Amino acid sequence: MTNTTCRFPENYESLTFFVAGAAGFIPSHLCEYYLEKGAKVIGVDNFITGSPSNIELLSKYKNFEFHEMDITQKLPSLDKTKIDFIYSLASPASPIDFSQIPLEIMRVNSEGVWRLLLLAQQKGARFLEASTSEVYGDPEIHPQVESYWGNVNPIGPRSCYDESKRFAEALTTSFHKKFKVDTRIVRIFNTYGPRMRPNDGRMIPNFINQALKNQEITVYGDGAQTRSFCYISDLIESMHHVMFSSDHMPFNIGNSGEYTVREAAEVIVKYLKSSSKITFIDHHLLEDDPKMRRPDLTKLVTLTGYRASVSFEEGLIKTADFFRSLF
Ligand SMILES: NC(=O)c1ccc[n+]([C@@H]2O[C@H](COP(=O)([O-])OP(=O)(O)OC[C@H]3O[C@@H](n4cnc5c(N)ncnc54)[C@H](O)[C@@H]3O)[C@@H](O)[C@H]2O)c1
Repeated sequence: MTNTTCRFPENYESLTFFVAGAAGFIPSHLCEYYLEKGAKVIGVDNFITGSPSNIELLSKYKNFEFHEMDITQKLPSLDKTKIDFIYSLASPASPIDFSQIPLEIMRVNSEGVWRLLLLAQQKGARFLEASTSEVYGDPEIHPQVESYWGNVNPIGPRSCYDESKRFAEALTTSFHKKFKVDTRIVRIFNTYGPRMRPNDGRMIPNFINQALKNQEITVYGDGAQTRSFCYISDLIESMHHVMFSSDHMPFNIGNSGEYTVREAAEVIVKYLKSSSKITFIDHHLLEDDPKMRRPDLTKLVTLTGYRASVSFEEGLIKTADFFRSLF
């Protein structure tokens, strides 16, 4: 596939990346990616769901600077600092967070993103909003393509996240149209890998931890709902490709392999050589749970040339190694 729109820098050492949410799962990998390339990275986080150990890890790079801060209240004073790229990744993203900290989620995806967009405008920086496949809600078309507007319940248990991410997309688009801020939007589909919180309620960490302990694997509902799973390194590469593409409209990013939740549980038991049994339970987190989830990645592949390459087996084994190291 030819690379049609990406223009990558030849040299990263003169570039500064600002990453909101640096202590989190996806953002900490993103920071590391650019630190390894020699860029300067400025990270901000208030640790509401992020981990100080991720910041410790990043702090071994001399080109990393960290500010503990709630971005809904303020941003670091950066008057004399050049910023080239801003990644807006500061948002809790797990279903458990939706019930425990809904207002914090809504505020960071509105006021927080607004502050980051003002910073982008002030610095002339390119801005990328990390949106989500949740903007499609419980989709009526399959696979989900970027032109689909979604089927979202505005007052359901997931609405604090789904609707605030939809607002963040609208805000990003408005800053682009009104102030010509150079914006990008990615809609991230389920991503997994090392540094996820072991008990954050998301399916892959749940299943892997249950499998490693040979405990029952608890599938919510009948397990017929489908998901696609992207390994973290593929996700980071996809996001990087979109940042350096030239299209302001949303890109789906993820992996287009599709599993029922039941199949995913079976694969995990098999690859991790576990003796766990799979059980099915009713659960409140199922309300408004999407029945089908798979990205149409045609736009990503056509415009950036990037295609996820890490297999589910390979990704699971690396993720399980990480969780094992926490025991
Ligand atoms: N993990 C996924 O599968 C997935 C899927 C779709 C979208 N996303 C998006 O990707 C981004 C990162 O998700 P993640 O899974 O790594 O979650 P995460 O919770 O691990 O990371 C988010 C980080 O943002 C920080 N944060 C939250 N509110 C903040 C605030 N007000 N000020 C400063 N920092 C704040 C948290 O402390 C955390 O470190 C989020 O925007 C999320 O919505 C993730």
